[in-house]
Amino acid sequence: MKLMKAIQVTAPGGKFELVQREIPEPAEGQVRVKVLACGVCHGDVLVKNGGHYPGLAYPRIPGHEIIGVIENLGTGVTGYEIGQRVGVGWPAGITYDGGFAEYMITVATELTLIPEELNEIEGAPLLCAGLTTFDALRNSGARPGDVVAIQGVGGLGHLAIQYAYKMGFKTIAISRGSEKQELAKRLGAQIFIDTESTEATNELLKLGGAKVILVTAPNNKAISDLINGLSIDGKIMIVAGVDEPISVVTGQLLAGRRSMQGWIPIYSGPNAKKDTIDFSLLTNVRPLIETFPLEQIDFAFEKMLNAKVRFRAVLTMGEATK
Ligand SMILES: NC(=O)c1ccc[n+]([C@@H]2O[C@H](COP(=O)([O-])OP(=O)(O)OC[C@H]3O[C@@H](n4cnc5c(N)ncnc54)[C@H](OP(=O)(O)O)[C@@H]3O)[C@@H](O)[C@H]2O)c1
Ligand SMILES: [Zn+2]
Repeated sequence: MKLMKAIQVTAPGGKFELVQREIPEPAEGQVRVKVLACGVCHGDVLVKNGGHYPGLAYPRIPGHEIIGVIENLGTGVTGYEIGQRVGVGWPAGITYDGGFAEYMITVATELTLIPEELNEIEGAPLLCAGLTTFDALRNSGARPGDVVAIQGVGGLGHLAIQYAYKMGFKTIAISRGSEKQELAKRLGAQIFIDTESTEATNELLKLGGAKVILVTAPNNKAISDLINGLSIDGKIMIVAGVDEPISVVTGQLLAGRRSMQGWIPIYSGPNAKKDTIDFSLLTNVRPLIETFPLEQIDFAFEKMLNAKVRFRAVLTMGEATK
């Protein structure tokens, strides 16, 4: 029996457990992927802490920013070959076991081919953090030259800054503290707003207000505080998962014909991942990453939760246990 290392969570609120699991075999229509790299997304909190998502069950191996190599094909799989590098994203790691493991199984229809010029460790975060922000921004209604603010400079936010800049928006980064200012500017932010020393809405209104504010911070107050910084017809686009209610009175929306919209890329069709990767290669957008071996998941996860990762933690796999 061949075994693999994996990180699993056995119950909501449980620990990450390093376990040996049997290397799974692909059934009809499935492939086995030898995982090369898997990003650690704030969305993994859903599995770690437990939350409502159809199909989430335990024990579960998290991880949904995966790049690996096809190692075995189930019957009936067409269009893919053993040895090809592929990407897998959400709902892997949520509704079925994901990439915090040396191997994983997925249905072939979930795969995206990874072009040769994309390194797997840099490429993995594009499968969720990249996809989500690229897809939200391209559907935001903002046009080149518009003021677009990215709130929260984390895994999603630091990619969003790059996409916004490359899409031709006047790009504003909003962060707590000044620590990330230099990096945010290097990534394409023309203006950096430190919410600890300035009132973000005032700064945005000096620019005429933001056409779009993409909020990536998983905090309700951070979102509520920004609504008045929108321009006429401005829109808050929410990608962050927040448990507490957002506070807004209708006057704030009526005053500027403003709106709020949630964004999740699963409704954007099968090409959204490929489009994200193509645009990232075309415009040279890449995540800034820190790599960790699978065994250091606790450290990587804590660092992410404390907004200390610069800017995406990526787990890399050692040789498979025989
Ligand atoms: N909609 C989707 O499809 C989708 C996809 C992926 C992730 N998500 C969600 O998007 C959110 C961000 O994910 P991520 O992986 O980018 O997380 P992350 O790396 O932890 O980054 C979040 C950033 O938000 C800011 N932040 C954190 N706590 C805050 C607080 N209490 N108040 C104000 N700002 C705070 C921090 O930026 P600063 O240090 O700059 O302030 C932090 O770096 C999560 O809620 C995740 O579940 C949604
Ligand atoms: Zn994610």
